[in-house]
Amino acid sequence: MTDQDADYDLGDYDPAGRNIKIHGPEDFEGMRKAGHLSASCLDMLAREIKPGMTTKDIDDLVFQYGMDHDALPATLGYRGFRHSCCTSVNHVVCHGIPGDRVLREGDVVNVDVTFIKDGWHGDTNRMYPVGNIPRKAERLCEITYESMMRGIAAVKPGATLGDIGAAIQQYAEGERCSVVREFCGHGLGRVFHDAPNVLHYGRSGEGAVLREGMFFTIEPMINAGRPNVKILNDGWTAVTRDRSLSAQFEHSIGVTKDGAEIFTKSPAGLDCPPYG
Ligand code: MF3
Ligand code: CO
Ligand code: CO
Repeated sequence: MTDQDADYDLGDYDPAGRNIKIHGPEDFEGMRKAGHLSASCLDMLAREIKPGMTTKDIDDLVFQYGMDHDALPATLGYRGFRHSCCTSVNHVVCHGIPGDRVLREGDVVNVDVTFIKDGWHGDTNRMYPVGNIPRKAERLCEITYESMMRGIAAVKPGATLGDIGAAIQQYAEGERCSVVREFCGHGLGRVFHDAPNVLHYGRSGEGAVLREGMFFTIEPMINAGRPNVKILNDGWTAVTRDRSLSAQFEHSIGVTKDGAEIFTKSPAGLDCPPYG
């Protein structure tokens, strides 16, 4: 999401984090179900994504999965977006629009799915290799997944949002990659995009203090080249300005007594490639 996408008023921004909702045990249960469903859909796609199919084919599979499981894709009709997921190929950073683009051997595609189940939002994305992919694409996917997991590892009560951003940035830049600045993770729960903004860069110790019961996503976009992005004329598709490869992974998490619970963990153990 961008700052403009937020469903809340950034004028309410409170550095102490008092505007961040605190959730109870029943809310965790709701997020577990929504997260499980979105993650299971991404598991299904790991078997389906192949050279020759279009990004629209992926969107159809996601829509059908939702219908079969009594869940609505949150992106359908969201701020004019008309699809059940985002499909971002190669140098597309995020918010790629499903269409007639044919996937070819060597491409990498990110699929970002958010199902609403019983009112709760499970928001998650993964990278999918299309057939055999170049080693440099494989490496960028590995670095991006590890960046997300290091951000999640920084989560516990008393830590700050800056600790998450710093963990991601230090690792990614240490691997000679760059962190996209224009999009961030976000609070979620009964709403899709809520406070706080979760930046994927920053300084440890800065930003709002995390407390048990907060729900948010961590979804770093990491580029092989420069960090700069531009939005295409369709108003959605974000691409790297230098056309370098970009990767992203996303989990929805809850802050627990002593760490983080990942609501969108893959039930099939397919959190990152290779998928089989
Ligand atoms: N799922 C994306 C996120 O991680 C948001 C997509 S909004 C859309 O926040 F409209 F582009 F689909
Ligand atoms: Co998200
Ligand atoms: Co998402």
